[in-house]
Amino acid sequence: MEREVVKIFDTTLRDGEQSPGATMNIEEKVMVAGQLEKLNVDVIEAGFAASSEGDFESVRRVAELVSTPIVLSLSRTKEDDIRRSIQAVEQAKQPGVHIFIATSDIHLKHKLMMSRQECIDAAVWAVEYAKKYLDYIEFSAEDASRTDRDFLAQIFGEVIRAGAVTINVPDTTGYAIPHQFGALFQYLQETVPGGGDVTWSAHCHNDLGLAVANSLAAIENGARQVECTINGIGERAGNTSMEEVVMALRTREDVFANIKTHVVTEQIYPSSQLLSQITGISVPINKPVVGDNAFAHEAGIHQDGVLKYKLTYEIMQPQTIGLDSNRLVLGKHSGRHAFIERLKFLGIDYTGTDMNKAFVRFKALADKKKSVYDEDLIAIVMEETARIPEKYELLYMNVTSSSMAVPHATVKMKVNGEELMENASGDGMVDACYKAIAQIAEMDLKLERYSVKSITGGTDAQGEVSCLLRKNGASVNGQGSHTDIIMASALAFTNALNKFAQIDRYGDRSGVHREGP
Ligand code: KIV
Ligand code: ZN
Repeated sequence: MEREVVKIFDTTLRDGEQSPGATMNIEEKVMVAGQLEKLNVDVIEAGFAASSEGDFESVRRVAELVSTPIVLSLSRTKEDDIRRSIQAVEQAKQPGVHIFIATSDIHLKHKLMMSRQECIDAAVWAVEYAKKYLDYIEFSAEDASRTDRDFLAQIFGEVIRAGAVTINVPDTTGYAIPHQFGALFQYLQETVPGGGDVTWSAHCHNDLGLAVANSLAAIENGARQVECTINGIGERAGNTSMEEVVMALRTREDVFANIKTHVVTEQIYPSSQLLSQITGISVPINKPVVGDNAFAHEAGIHQDGVLKYKLTYEIMQPQTIGLDSNRLVLGKHSGRHAFIERLKFLGIDYTGTDMNKAFVRFKALADKKKSVYDEDLIAIVMEETARIPEKYELLYMNVTSSSMAVPHATVKMKVNGEELMENASGDGMVDACYKAIAQIAEMDLKLERYSVKSITGGTDAQGEVSCLLRKNGASVNGQGSHTDIIMASALAFTNALNKFAQIDRYGDRSGVHREGP
């Protein structure tokens, strides 16, 4: 029997990016989009073109870049939104628009101040308008899971008549319970006129930890598209996690016997790592599928069982998600060719990366560490991509600390070609160093989040620092990696300053956190 495809609609670049601290600049979004194409997702929601110039530009760049997936931009039911979306996806091989309006009484009354009829009129007008320009129109009823069922069926019938080809049922607040959400899909398919001619889609949030369960219930009841994000990032508790839903469908083929996805599962782990490196949001160690412990067997009885026969405790093979146990690849004798070949093998897109600088960093790292791992290579490429263009360059740093003295930092930086030096004391070495850099930048900055993690194991491992900085109400995320974590911290801070400079220079606000729909 030919299996039916459940389309994977990835909204990492839109709903995922809306979560605080997950902001990405244009180059970073383009990198993620390239990876999503390797993952072979069916649809990429590249952004909300009308929300800012930066968002428009990143949707446009993604549309230009990818060949296979449909590229969508989100729009409210407003003419301006739809026009901007259509312009942004113009170059896509398969362009589309995703139109949404809230349908629950609570949203209609308190947010939109609209009657149900006005809501239908707005939705139908928007779909008909967009349909004049593009074939692929998805319609979403925001807060569908808390919307009156009959009204939901009525508005869906109307937008299908107006030309929508995919109907999305969002559980916007993460309120749904699997059996109810499944029953809603069944009801809608039985009731909505024209429902047999469209793709039904589920879009779940994880407020009660049920996003994946609700998505699977929707699939069991006829949904043939799931909207999700890498690592489950997204508003509040996040969206449906792409890797969890894909691997549940694959691992439980016995239950989902007539279902398949197009996802190249071996690209799951690289995608997870890339996103975490870009956003600085680390993957929880116990996260299903991609967490560090997902395939680690600690208990003696478990280890014994796995050694005797893997399937005693392993329901998935690490290789299936691209987790290569042999990650040691390069060392100090590896040349440029080996370095580039490994990047190609890993599927890392290094267009836009200063490869001369990246190779110099690789050699310096290989000199310090005996073993350079794949994660190190990803970090190097990220560093040399995220740093363009550079207004601020870290030239020199001297930080001292002892149990008897106040930590002190001296930092020298090049700012627009001019060398500047500052000294500062702080509560700790990182604090002192951040204060000195902030003085050089003459900026009033607030450090909202700081995290450090070791990229690989061992005391000579690279430390990866991620910092979220706030200036005038906008936050950007900076990353830096180095074998010395104070140096990594200074690099992360410098990276964030360059992102602010990029925003000031190019008006690229895509890397700035702002409220979404
Ligand atoms: O959660 C939601 O309702 C959304 C819509 C805009 C699809 O993200
Ligand atoms: Zn959402």
